[in-house]
Amino acid sequence: MFPFHRPRRIRKNEVIRRMVRETSLSPDDFIYPLFATFGKNIRKEIKSMPGCFQESVDRIVKHAKEVHSLGIPSVLLFGIPEHKDEVGSSAYDPHGVVQKAIKEIKNKVPGLYVITDVCMCEYTSHGHCGIIEKGDVKNDPTLELLAREAVSHAKAGADMVAPSDMMDGRVEAIRIALDEEGFSETPIMSYAAKYASAFYGPFREAAESTPRFGDRRSYQMDPANRREALKEVSLDIEEGADIVMVKPAMTYLDIISDVKDAFDVPVAAYNVSGEYSLIKAGAKLGWIDEKRAMMEVLTSIKRAGADLILTYFAKDAAKVLNK
Ligand code: PBG
Repeated sequence: MFPFHRPRRIRKNEVIRRMVRETSLSPDDFIYPLFATFGKNIRKEIKSMPGCFQESVDRIVKHAKEVHSLGIPSVLLFGIPEHKDEVGSSAYDPHGVVQKAIKEIKNKVPGLYVITDVCMCEYTSHGHCGIIEKGDVKNDPTLELLAREAVSHAKAGADMVAPSDMMDGRVEAIRIALDEEGFSETPIMSYAAKYASAFYGPFREAAESTPRFGDRRSYQMDPANRREALKEVSLDIEEGADIVMVKPAMTYLDIISDVKDAFDVPVAAYNVSGEYSLIKAGAKLGWIDEKRAMMEVLTSIKRAGADLILTYFAKDAAKVLNK
């Protein structure tokens, strides 16, 4: 009677595999990042992120319609401003590029849920995520600017704000400012456990946000730390985060799993630019099956515990799932 155990019995064909499958993906799981830039009729492909674009507001609205029609419920907006300065003033300009994009998208595609990335790095001349003093990012003065930025997004009509800067206390500062301005119902998704990762490289080309000096290791987390992620997440929840995010995703599945086990709020994971570009590049070289690799990666992020996945693959994956 050997072997008595035959796990292969329930792998025999696609029907039984479907019946016992533990994890399934849906377009509902996805949030698709979009990059808004100034100008008109602009749609510039990001070299290191094939299939992703910097788009002027008129074009981003069209793109948003396409995203919505694929059944993807939400987009995450980034801005590439015309003007950068030391204090990132375009970030909280009521006529800034993100503010305009929010208004237009909510106007033309009202059913699409618009989340905005709240950070300074795309708007500062030095490319860091806050105010610089003596060569480092100053925490407390940055909070005020982030709060202003979040309020200006809410005023433009954003459904949710997502601070990605990793300053201490920013969720609380943003929560208080939103409440004071009458946006007590606007949720915050915090980039709670955000690591100082090499996998953000292509994004920095996309958002033109590479730091001019140094790196982000004095504010983003050390990739070697696991328990510290729980501390970051618990602080953000205490400060009022409604959804917490782990970022990147593929190399931090243990963190996603830990956070899911330890807390009772929805967990998001950011399948970042480098993770996307690697698969695109591998596929272009003919070294990897792009569609299968994409679905495997997204499934593994969900399996680890993510309720929501921010991914540049959202449209491609939705097309596979909608078939
Ligand atoms: C802004 C921000 C970054 C990403 C999202 N928001 C870049 C960074 O922290 O340098 C990365 C997204 C990606 O790589 O896809 N702070």
